[in-house]
Amino acid sequence: MNKKQKALLEKMAEARLGGGEQRIEKQHKKKKLTARERLEYLMDEGSFEEVGMLVTHRSTDFGMEKQLFFGDGVVTGYGTVNGRLIYVYAQDFTVFGGALSETHAEKICKIMDLAVKTGAPVIGLNDSGGARIQEGVRSLGGYADIFYRNVRSSGVIPQISAIMGPCAGGAVYSPAMTDFTIMVEETSYMFVTGPNVVKTVTNEEVSSEELGGASTHSTKSGVTHVTASNDVACLEEIKKMLSYIPQNNKLKTPKLPFTLSDELRDELEHIIPEDTHKPYDMRKVIKGICDKDSFYEIHKDYAENIVVGFNRLAGRSIGIIANQPLSLAGVLDVNSSKKAARFTRFCDCFNIPLLVLVDVPGFLPGTDQEWNGIIVHGAKLLYALSEATVPRVTVITRKAYGGAYDVMNSKHIGADMNFAWPTAEIAVMGAKGASEIIFKKEISEASDPEAKWKEKEAEYADKFADPYRAARRGFIDEVILPKDTRRKLIKAFSMLENKELTGPDRKHGNIPL
Ligand code: COA
Repeated sequence: MNKKQKALLEKMAEARLGGGEQRIEKQHKKKKLTARERLEYLMDEGSFEEVGMLVTHRSTDFGMEKQLFFGDGVVTGYGTVNGRLIYVYAQDFTVFGGALSETHAEKICKIMDLAVKTGAPVIGLNDSGGARIQEGVRSLGGYADIFYRNVRSSGVIPQISAIMGPCAGGAVYSPAMTDFTIMVEETSYMFVTGPNVVKTVTNEEVSSEELGGASTHSTKSGVTHVTASNDVACLEEIKKMLSYIPQNNKLKTPKLPFTLSDELRDELEHIIPEDTHKPYDMRKVIKGICDKDSFYEIHKDYAENIVVGFNRLAGRSIGIIANQPLSLAGVLDVNSSKKAARFTRFCDCFNIPLLVLVDVPGFLPGTDQEWNGIIVHGAKLLYALSEATVPRVTVITRKAYGGAYDVMNSKHIGADMNFAWPTAEIAVMGAKGASEIIFKKEISEASDPEAKWKEKEAEYADKFADPYRAARRGFIDEVILPKDTRRKLIKAFSMLENKELTGPDRKHGNIPL
């Protein structure tokens, strides 16, 4: 090996050390892996190719010219995850706390551009103290260059953000505009302004964890879609999520090899309680319909009255949206509407067929909901489903009342196949409320109003609380036995495989935001 080759190897070794042994040790003490360790775990063995390893910043202020680290605080490149091409960047907290400089941003932009040109997902592993303070506006410009690319890539290639350390100030807006955010519990946080600024401006005392930790964003704000207990678990989540998602908006998710053996599922016959007011767990229905252990839930602990996530049906990736009677009786409210609308739009961008399971008593009443704009937020879900052109199938398991019947992928808004179980109740509202309104006079004039009300409620339920009126009109294509649901859905989605539907010629619609 000659001198020049040796010099190259020395530079590469220096780059691999990032901010040096001491800072690596500090990173490990915080229970965090380094950027390179994370990449090693995420990518298929030996597949990672680094791009821009020898980049350094160009800053000369505050003596920065004397502090040069190869790579400038971010490791970027490409490789494969389960054999599929992926672009990735991992911020290196050991170099200037992973703070983003002009050159750091240029490296990220370079791989984002390559990803769009070649049609492959971008994964960002975020661990950064934010804008490189010594660089001022050049660093802010770098963020905006990334934001712009996030938006240009949106709906073209999947973008996933892992938050594996600090992510504050402007830094939060890139993850917010990507498709999914995964946060590591205890070691990561995201906020626009940190606890000190909060204290100064609002006089609130709050810790970083409480303000923007994984548990806050997975339950209160919905900013994160998934949480993981540590770095390794977080990287596993990314791999799992990728398996349901195609490479880009022109392709479908690869179908897994599958041998059909268990089309009839008897367990589905016993899920709906006799008493229609009793809750049950919609996840049992999902489990009963889909391939074994294939449910990947998104936003598990946020807006629990709706369940969304990826699943597989005979090896084919599908998106599921399902009312959850276990929480708030499965009503639609502000948060559940936003959650389901966003998921619908992701699936529609990336050719993932949608299955909607319906048991919805309506929208949640109250001043809180109205004043927080349930009209506009509910409209988001209605809009998102109406505009989705992927195959769309609905199964009504029990209640489908009022406007919520329309919203939940009804035939009228473009669903391709609509099934109902014999327990389905498709009506303007529940029998109790309906009979109170339309038989008001008779009830009030009766010698025993309570008994009259009960009688009228039963009469109304008998007449309307079933799927057959809707089936007679063709709003329901078929009333099916629960145990037969899996078989029917496999056939329906297979029939719809080559569905083609183009939207009207327009720049874009104006979804109520
Ligand atoms: N710009 C430049 N360098 C930064 C930086 C930034 N935004 N944030 C952190 N660093 C550097 C620190 O100077 C330190 O350098 P050193 O290793 O040479 O000592 C290193 O990164 C680690 O930072 P440190 O503060 O020791 O780590 P910590 O884990 O105790 O705290 C933060 C992490 C992110 C909470 C803290 O560094 C911080 O508050 N950073 C500033 C955040 C900010 O206001 N960013 C700008 C607005 S977006």
